[in-house]
Amino acid sequence: MEQTFIMIKPDGVQRGLVGEIISRFEKKGFSLKGLKLISVERAFAEKHYEDLSAKPFFNGLVEYIISGPVVAMVWEGKNVVATGRKIIGATNPSDSAPGTIRGDYAVEIGRNIIHGSDAVESARKEIALWFPDGTVNWQSSLHSWIYE
Ligand code: PPS
Repeated sequence: MEQTFIMIKPDGVQRGLVGEIISRFEKKGFSLKGLKLISVERAFAEKHYEDLSAKPFFNGLVEYIISGPVVAMVWEGKNVVATGRKIIGATNPSDSAPGTIRGDYAVEIGRNIIHGSDAVESARKEIALWFPDGTVNWQSSLHSWIYE
């Protein structure tokens, strides 16, 4: 089954949105496979965002991610990468639809609360980076009520 990497950024943690965000993914029917609260070093944040290293906002983005603890998660389910991005909403909260996490709780792009993998391949790389010891292998007893 497909997996995605979701990170609640420092602003989401500080603003008390962890439970709300987890609840949205749970209620959708996705399964939590990995979860940790972690403060990351600069080098780790730079590695996570290495594809963006040439962007003008790169340093600010790294400073933001290392400014406080983040919640790193792995969620599993059918089409969870693309659907997770829909639940999160557009990158710039000015464009995020109401009902999405960013649309409901964020105002500007540099404080957009949450990260979600943008493709199955990047999810695989991000999960390996953040959960090098692997994740928990379990299946919800509700599985047959969510999938036909
Ligand atoms: S780009 O330029 O198209 O590659 O960027 P984009 O795909 O829109 O966003 C990639 C990540 O960079 C973050 N981002 C920013 N952070 C701070 N300031 C500015 N101006 C900014 N622009 C983009 C954006 O939130 C994405 O981070 P994640 O954590 O993946 O959501």
